[in-house]
Amino acid sequence: MADDLEQVRAQTLAAINAASDVKSWDAVRVAVLGKSGTLTAMLKELGRTPPELRRERGAALNALRDEFGTALEARKVTLQAEALAAQLAAERMDVTLPPRLAPLGTIHPISRTMEEIAAIFGAMGFTTAEGPDIESDWHNFSALNIPGHHPARDDHDTFYLPGEPPHPLDNRVLRTHTSPVQVRTMLSEAPPIRVIVPGRTFRADHDATHSPMFHQCEGLVIDRDITLGHLKGCLIDFLRAYFGIATLPVRFRASYFPFTEPSMEVDIGWNRRTGEIGGDTDWLEILGSGMVHPKVLANCGIDPREWQGFAFGMGIERITMLKYGIADLRPFYESDLRWLRHYGFSPLAPAILHEGLSG
Ligand code: PHE
Repeated sequence: MADDLEQVRAQTLAAINAASDVKSWDAVRVAVLGKSGTLTAMLKELGRTPPELRRERGAALNALRDEFGTALEARKVTLQAEALAAQLAAERMDVTLPPRLAPLGTIHPISRTMEEIAAIFGAMGFTTAEGPDIESDWHNFSALNIPGHHPARDDHDTFYLPGEPPHPLDNRVLRTHTSPVQVRTMLSEAPPIRVIVPGRTFRADHDATHSPMFHQCEGLVIDRDITLGHLKGCLIDFLRAYFGIATLPVRFRASYFPFTEPSMEVDIGWNRRTGEIGGDTDWLEILGSGMVHPKVLANCGIDPREWQGFAFGMGIERITMLKYGIADLRPFYESDLRWLRHYGFSPLAPAILHEGLSG
């Protein structure tokens, strides 16, 4: 090989091997094989070489071009491997470090109780229904057999909404109980019916045990041959599952509601002195219930000679306070994080009914 070629070869191979990154590698490639690269220029000059030398020199230059191409490719592979190794080293993760926990909220005790009620009654075949917070006087009272001027209206401390009612006897009210959703369900669904109705309710009352906004859960069952026995069995099962006490004493005591006949208040056994639920020391009233009044069925377009059933209603705050020993109602609505962390429930452990409630 001619001396000049030998020199170009040595310099170029040295430069290729000296390229330390993709950028300098590319600069070497352009300097040698680019449009005005050294080897390109030598190939162009071939035309001016004397014909007797041209063949030999041409073959030598082509061989050099192949050699440089191979050397460049090999260097590129090495540089890429080095770059990848450097990146992997820089981004190395220590999987043995403890995890940084994301802040996790808690489920409010009111929501938790509603979920537990839904889990227990869900297992008995009930679905959940909801209704509006702002009701007509008719849905909240009249349809439930509480006509205007009925004394039961006074017990409810109703919030009436301002404005002209669509009908003189149909003021709009903040619903005082979840019972109007009984009416809405019977009007929109043909029996048989099995629903629970958790939701917000409102009464003009405010002290340590009363809030102007609170929560209730209604229940309604309508079928052809539903009896008081079904009502009792259903509520006894519910209360024992909810409080997690298989032997919880439950007492049904005659009472009065305009929308049920007969009506019963339901009491559970507890100890008034210690506040402990269960046992037979004292009785504690816990919910209202009864057989749906025939007039209510008729008001809702259901023939009372063909269908009958039972209804019940309970205060969510009350049964929550009793289960967890919470003495004051007000913190339920104050959003104090310390209270919520203490009484709240993990969102990762939902209310599941499995031989009682888990969690
Ligand atoms: N609505 C009643 C209340 O708020 C509770 C109840 C519901 C009673 C259904 C009987 C049947 O006090």
